[in-house]
Amino acid sequence: MNFKLSGELITSDEIQKRVAELGEEIGRDYCGKDLVVVGILKGAIIFMAYLVRHIPPTVNATLDFMAVSSYGDSTKTNGIVKIVKDLDGSVKDKNVLVVEDIVDTGLTLSYLLKLMQERQPESVRVCALLDKEERRKVPVDVTYRGFLIPDKFVVGYGLDYAGKWRNLPAVHYVEQQREQ
Ligand code: IMP
Repeated sequence: MNFKLSGELITSDEIQKRVAELGEEIGRDYCGKDLVVVGILKGAIIFMAYLVRHIPPTVNATLDFMAVSSYGDSTKTNGIVKIVKDLDGSVKDKNVLVVEDIVDTGLTLSYLLKLMQERQPESVRVCALLDKEERRKVPVDVTYRGFLIPDKFVVGYGLDYAGKWRNLPAVHYVEQQREQ
C-alpha cells in the first residue's frame, strides 16, 4: 500500500499556540521543582524541542530520551514494544514527564509507564501532542494533551509514515493510493 500526502489537519500556527499553552501549564504545575522531560524518539523530537522552550526557568528541567520500536513501515501497531535506546540517567525519586507524539492504542505508553514505575520515580505524567482516544486498547492517563484527533493516520511535526514527512511543520492526513 502507498500513501500520498493530503491536507492539513492541524496547522503550524495552531500547533505553536497549543504547544506554548502546554508549556505554560507544565510550568505552573512543576514550579520550583525538578523535572526530567523524557522524549520518546523519534516521533516526539520536534514536539519536545518546541515544548521545552515554553517551560519557564522556574522549573528545573533536564532532558532525556528513550527510543522504542514502533510501526516499522506499516500503519498498524503490533503491540510489541522494544526499547532501542534507554534513558541515560536514573529517574529514581524524580518527577518524570514522558513526551510522546501521539497516543493511539496506548500499548506503547502503557508499556513504557510500567517500565518507568519500576524505576521508582517520585511521579510520572504524560504529555502527548495528539490523542486518538477512540482507538485506545489499554487505558493511559494523558495529563497534558495537545489535540484530540479522529481515527485517521497522520504525519508531520515529528510523525512519520515509513520514516517520511517528520519534517513537515503542520499535521497532515495521508491518503491511500492504488499501486500503479
Ligand atoms: P500506540 O502504541 O498504538 O499508542 O502507538 C503509539 C505510536 O504509534 C506513536 O508513538 C507513533 O509512533 C505511532 N503512531 C500511531 N498513530 C500514528 C499516526 O497516525 N501517524 C504516525 N504514527 C502513528
